Amino acid sequence: MKIKEERTVLIVKPDGVKRGLVGEIIRRVEQRGLKVIGVKMVQADKKTIDQHLPKSQEWLTAVGNKSLEDYVKNKLDPEKYAGTTDPVKIGKMVREWLFEYWTSGPVVAVAIEGVHAIEMVRKIVGHTLPAKAEMGTIRGDFSVDSAILGNMEKRSVHNIVHASGNPQEAKNEINLWFSKKEIHDYSRAEEDIMF
Ligand code: CDP
Ligand code: MG
Repeated sequence: MKIKEERTVLIVKPDGVKRGLVGEIIRRVEQRGLKVIGVKMVQADKKTIDQHLPKSQEWLTAVGNKSLEDYVKNKLDPEKYAGTTDPVKIGKMVREWLFEYWTSGPVVAVAIEGVHAIEMVRKIVGHTLPAKAEMGTIRGDFSVDSAILGNMEKRSVHNIVHASGNPQEAKNEINLWFSKKEIHDYSRAEEDIMF
């Protein structure tokens, strides 16, 4: 595997675009030394989002558990606000709500290449839930929504950006969001001294 050429996808979601954060977000990626190899603004349709979002039990469970952890931390009953304590059921509800969020305006998809790009971009982005996202991360610096509030209002958490979570997602998302011609090959000026 070519370590320097690991690829990932970061997407500025509609709330990030509407808040004028596209430049700020891409700046943080470039500042770290990761290479932007594709950028496009798209009004996504439901079909694209359905292909973008994982369907696995594992992902649904992980999504549901993020809500459940928030209920435990805040000593609130998930049954009362989400109608269930089953993580998979919560995960499925969130997946449905995500269509509305993702198609509520244009998104900006950014293809990125670099050393451990998947992990590095996830670090720049921060935890899924704004309250858990460290200061200095995109979500920690710019978002304030919560999973419980989302459950109560029957919508997904608004957290500015998406980033591929693992190599499988990265591969799927590069192919889904970009054609071969939209991915570019060039050298960053400082490449020979960075690593
Ligand atoms: O985006 P990330 O990979 O950090 O999180 P995810 O677990 O893959 O969830 C995808 C998206 O679903 C999140 O970015 C949130 O917008 C939303 N979500 C939610 O609304 N409630 C949860 N309990 C978990 C995720
Ligand atoms: Mg994810």
